[in-house]
Amino acid sequence: MSGSDEGARPQPAPVGSWQTVVTAREPVGPRAVLLTVLLPGRALPLAPGQFVMARAWSAPDPLLRRPLAPFDVRVRADGTQLDLLVVAGGRGTRRIAALEPGATLDLLGPLGRGFGPLPAGRPVWLVGGGVGVAPLHHMVAELVRREEAERLSRLHVVLGARSGEALFGREAFEAAGLPVLLATDRGDVGLRGTAIDALAQRLAHADDGSAIPYVYGCGPEPMLRALVALCRERGWQGEVSVERYMACGFGVCFTCTCEVREPDRGRVHRVRSCLEGPVFPIERLAW
Ligand SMILES: Cc1cc2nc3c(=O)[nH]c(=O)nc-3n(C[C@H](O)[C@H](O)[C@H](O)COP(=O)(O)OP(=O)(O)OC[C@H]3O[C@@H](n4cnc5c(N)ncnc54)[C@H](O)[C@@H]3O)c2cc1C
Ligand code: FES
Repeated sequence: MSGSDEGARPQPAPVGSWQTVVTAREPVGPRAVLLTVLLPGRALPLAPGQFVMARAWSAPDPLLRRPLAPFDVRVRADGTQLDLLVVAGGRGTRRIAALEPGATLDLLGPLGRGFGPLPAGRPVWLVGGGVGVAPLHHMVAELVRREEAERLSRLHVVLGARSGEALFGREAFEAAGLPVLLATDRGDVGLRGTAIDALAQRLAHADDGSAIPYVYGCGPEPMLRALVALCRERGWQGEVSVERYMACGFGVCFTCTCEVREPDRGRVHRVRSCLEGPVFPIERLAW
């Protein structure tokens, strides 16, 4: 699934290493940028929640690519445009976030398993922490492009971050007509607390026989663990995109493993989140 503009579609790209060119760079916070890159002449069909491994340097320093789940992907007549929300944290993301228009960015992908389709007839909550909003926005952008009015009408968004300057994507969700709840640890914007506090408060009375909510989450692991715990307590279903260090992104290094429970025998074992995830159904996670 990937956004598509009118016009002849370019050839779909298999999984591979692709040279993209930065076409725009918009600062969206003190350490965050929205980078727009173009892969000329190819369709790179990433589903929301899938990711690419990005490299803006020649090895060996830094050695490893960094995983990024796009904020949006549009297949156009002249290639694929990807919007990447990048927060400059460590050495790799700082280098990527500093790229200026005209620079090249090497992307390995598409990788991983993304979010599943929206369940029919149920209220859906998108819960994003910080930069974790990116694949949730990608999901909404796809629905907007396909004019899926019924599905969009069932969506609600909760965004959380340490402070207001680290809340991303609010305007884009509101422009799509979605209600947005905000929470910050500092309390400078929205509720003082976490996105999960905001969700729990807002749905305090959802056990009253109305349709059971379905949740899509992406963000830092403490937030996701709290979200999973809340869903289990309330009997909600959903899926979350886990964030693990990823050294390769395609199943070779085992740095990204995550504990899951198999539904049949309840056996707990570790799977590679770059292959079987990063998106997992909540009931499968052994958290
Ligand atoms: C699926 C996924 C999607 C993501 N999407 C985004 C996004 O859209 N935007 C964004 O800003 N961030 C995103 N991230 C997070 C981003 O990739 C991390 O911030 C980044 O990997 C850390 O890199 P750094 O250069 O900031 O930090 P650094 O500290 O320089 O590097 C950390 C990197 O070093 C390696 N590393 C460090 N410790 C270990 C270890 N113990 N084992 C193995 N390797 C190690 C890994 O490559 C790791 O990525 C995503 C992460 C995942 C897993
Ligand atoms: S990142 Fe190497 S196996 Fe998953």
